[in-house]
Amino acid sequence: MNKKRLLSGVQPTGELHIGNWLGAIRNWVTLQNQYESYVCVVDLHAITVPHDPKKLKENTLKTAALYVACGMDPNECTIFIQSHIAAHSELCWLLNCVTPINWMERMIQFKEKAVKQGNNVSLGLLDYPVLMAADILLYDADVVPVGEDQKQHLELARNIAQQRINSRFSINNKSILKVPEPLIMKDGSKIMSLCDGKSKMSKSDPNEGSRITLLDSPDIIKKKIKRAKTDQYFGLEFNNPERPEAHNLLTIYAMVTDKEKENIKQECANMGWGKFKPLLTEAIISALEPIQEKYNLLMQDKSELNQILKNGTNKAEQVSTITLNRVKNSIGLLNRI
Ligand code: TRP
Repeated sequence: MNKKRLLSGVQPTGELHIGNWLGAIRNWVTLQNQYESYVCVVDLHAITVPHDPKKLKENTLKTAALYVACGMDPNECTIFIQSHIAAHSELCWLLNCVTPINWMERMIQFKEKAVKQGNNVSLGLLDYPVLMAADILLYDADVVPVGEDQKQHLELARNIAQQRINSRFSINNKSILKVPEPLIMKDGSKIMSLCDGKSKMSKSDPNEGSRITLLDSPDIIKKKIKRAKTDQYFGLEFNNPERPEAHNLLTIYAMVTDKEKENIKQECANMGWGKFKPLLTEAIISALEPIQEKYNLLMQDKSELNQILKNGTNKAEQVSTITLNRVKNSIGLLNRI
């Protein structure tokens, strides 16, 4: 039986942090045997807000290397850079022409990001979710692993596929685009800022102390955990609304040690912050060690990484071309001779 397909991506906007790993990439690694997986570095999404060209190039390659270093197996899954496959931009245009503007204007993330940009909001930022729909629909993805913040974007992709393409242009009920399902990540996968247990750990937070990146040295990790926000209570607990930092740091501890929350709850119930923080620090350092080792190898001699991306690009190109042509044909664009 054919495996179902999965597609996902992360933006190369900054250094990947443990929130990206524990909340997304590590799940892809677990799912890669079960699903035929496509994972891309979405560099075209990264230019929807002001960016530094040199850093973008660097971060794009780093992000791809980190996918592999985190355990994405190039023999099992297709790893590629979004902008290397022209079909993403092309399908995005086709979808643009059938997507109502008012669907876009109500996107929550657009509104949040637009506020931060003041008068300098690009058309690309408004169009971001349509490009994301193109990413997903090009590969006939059955599932897309998403966190809470991307649910609305996935819903948009489903609506475009179903209401704007399939129901308008299908002949004899033969669907043109596959309507993807969300694969909701289990609770606890959302990692919060080290400085504020109520806001999500983010690559774009100006305070570097708010996150631990996958490439932070043991020294830096020690410092960041030492400074991480705590509270005045003794004993640590999950799920106390007054103690979001305790919940977050315990969650990180449970995830990096791969221990059940129940066990962590008991282990830490009578522990003060002074005893817990060094434990957490060590646990993070040892979880990141193998990733950093593999990353360094990949970046020292780039031939393996280049080959992985070359293979990924070839595969992604084959699959996406078929879908793109199907859409072009159905909406009435004349076939190329
Ligand atoms: N918007 C996603 C995010 O910021 C990234 C993304 C772009 C994506 N295209 C995608 C995720 C396709 C899943 C599928 O997290």
